[in-house]
Amino acid sequence: MGKDVIIACDFASAAQTFAFLDRFHGRKPFVKIGMELFYAEGPSIVREIKARGHQIFLDLKLHDIPNTVKKAMAVLSNLDVDICNLHAGGTIRMMQAAMEGLTRPDGTRPLLIAVTQLTSTDQESMERDLLIHEPIADVVMHYAENAKKAGLDGVVCSPLEAQKVHERCGSDFLTVTPGVRFADGDIGDQKRVMTPAEAKKIGSDYIVVGRPITASDDPVAAYERCINEFIG
Ligand code: C5P
Repeated sequence: MGKDVIIACDFASAAQTFAFLDRFHGRKPFVKIGMELFYAEGPSIVREIKARGHQIFLDLKLHDIPNTVKKAMAVLSNLDVDICNLHAGGTIRMMQAAMEGLTRPDGTRPLLIAVTQLTSTDQESMERDLLIHEPIADVVMHYAENAKKAGLDGVVCSPLEAQKVHERCGSDFLTVTPGVRFADGDIGDQKRVMTPAEAKKIGSDYIVVGRPITASDDPVAAYERCINEFIG
């Protein structure tokens, strides 16, 4: 898998999602399906988007006891998704169990990446609510290294962390980065953002882009602009 732009299809229904994807007329962008759409439509939404020829990042962020995560990952593998994820906070043992669950009859498996600390968690809430007192940047790197030790393929991280993750975990350890905005765009509720061109420069492997594409008057042009800036 090479560098790519993944469109976050944060829609509430299959109808809205297909109306959006139909605008691409034969182009097949890599798409991210999150909890809202998956819980609304069930596994059929994955099968239908896959049948249309798209690659899929299924963003369900699993976090449970190792045995449960292992079994759930086996189900997701057989949905034929390309990337799935979990919370690194579930421990190395949980991540190893998840890897064991990722099997398909033909021997292939989806890529598995870990969420470190959510970007909505800050130093204050981490100390107050989770009783973790290390600097948050160190916690993120520690979780990334745990994911690497467990055999995962990479992490979801802010574009600002991608370079350091590659330094600590190796250049082949994938960094999948949301929080991408055009230089002349609205940043919305994202706090730390980067342009696709900057994300390319710091070595992100995949950028996840939602509203700059989905809320654009011309989503195809916005997608092309991301591709041009990020891949060139
Ligand atoms: O619309 P926008 O480009 O902000 O969408 C970014 C996508 O990436 C959303 O689906 C959001 O849930 C997801 N995401 C994020 N920050 C994280 C993890 C996931 O924005 N730390």
